[in-house]
Amino acid sequence: MSKLANRVALVTGGAQGIGAAIADGLAAAGATVVVGDLYPSPTHESLTLDVSNEESVGAAIAEIVAKHGRLDIIVNNAGIMFEESVADHDRSTWDRMLAINLTGPMLVTKHASAHLAANETGGSIVNVGSIEGDRCNPHHSAYAATKSGVHGLTRATAIDLGPMNIRCNAVAPGWIDTPLNASYVDSHPDREMVIDELAKLHPIGRVGAPSDVADVVVWLAGDESRFVTGQVVTIDGGRTVRPPLPGILS
Ligand SMILES: NC(=O)c1ccc[n+]([C@@H]2O[C@H](COP(=O)([O-])OP(=O)(O)OC[C@H]3O[C@@H](n4cnc5c(N)ncnc54)[C@H](O)[C@@H]3O)[C@@H](O)[C@H]2O)c1
Repeated sequence: MSKLANRVALVTGGAQGIGAAIADGLAAAGATVVVGDLYPSPTHESLTLDVSNEESVGAAIAEIVAKHGRLDIIVNNAGIMFEESVADHDRSTWDRMLAINLTGPMLVTKHASAHLAANETGGSIVNVGSIEGDRCNPHHSAYAATKSGVHGLTRATAIDLGPMNIRCNAVAPGWIDTPLNASYVDSHPDREMVIDELAKLHPIGRVGAPSDVADVVVWLAGDESRFVTGQVVTIDGGRTVRPPLPGILS
C-alpha cells in the first residue's frame, strides 16, 4: 500500500516552485493533496487561500475537511522574498513579509490542529524555513527574521501539539532554482554563468531542485519519521557546512 494512502494533505503556496514539487511528491506517495494558493495549481486540486488572512485560512481548512472528511498533513510552504535594507524598511513591506511568511504558518497550524488531533494516526506539520533562518544575505533582514521565526515556531508547535499526537518539523532549503530567486539570477546578463558560480559554492557541485526539498518533506510527513519532531533539517548540498576561504585559496 502507498505510504500516505488515506492521508489528506494541504500544501500552501503549492501552485509553483518548491510547493508544486512537494504536492507532486505527496501525491506520488498516495496522499490526497489540496493546494492552497493565491493562484490555482495546474496539476492538483486547489482552493484559493491567502495564508496571511485568518478568515481565508479558516474557510480553506473547513472546506477541505467538509470535502475529504479529514486532514492529516500540513505543509506551510507559502512565502515571499524581497530585498530591502534594514535602514530603509517601509513598515508596510515589513508587515507584509511577516504576515505571509510567519503569521501564515501560525494561522494554518492553529486552524488545522484540532482536525489533525482527531485522526487515529495523528498529524504531521512541515514548515518551510530557510538556511537564512540562521544566516542572512544582504538586504534580507525581513526575510531572515521571518525564517528564524519559522524555525522557532516549529519547535514551539512540536512542544505544544506533541501531546495531541501531532509532530512538527521544518526544512531549511539552501539555493533552490525556482521563480522566487529567479530575479536575483536574472539581474545578471549571463544566467548560466551565475548558476555555474553558485554551483561552486556547493560541495555537491550544483544548486538545488524543488524535488530535493520535496523528498525530505514527504519523509517528514509520513510515519517513517514518527519519532522526529521539533527539528530543522537543512537541505543545501553542503553549502553552509563549508566556511568561506579567500578566493585565492579556495
Ligand atoms: N527557492 C529557494 O531558494 C528557497 C530557499 C529557502 C527557502 N525557500 C522557501 O520555500 C518556500 C517556497 O519558495 P519558492 O522558491 O517555491 O517560491 P515561489 O515564489 O516559486 O512560490 C511561492 C508560492 O507561494 C504562493 N504565495 C505567495 N503568497 C501567498 C499567500 N499570501 N497565500 C498563499 N500562497 C501564497 C505563490 O503564489 C507561489 O505559488 C518559501 O517559503 C521560501 O521562502 C525557498
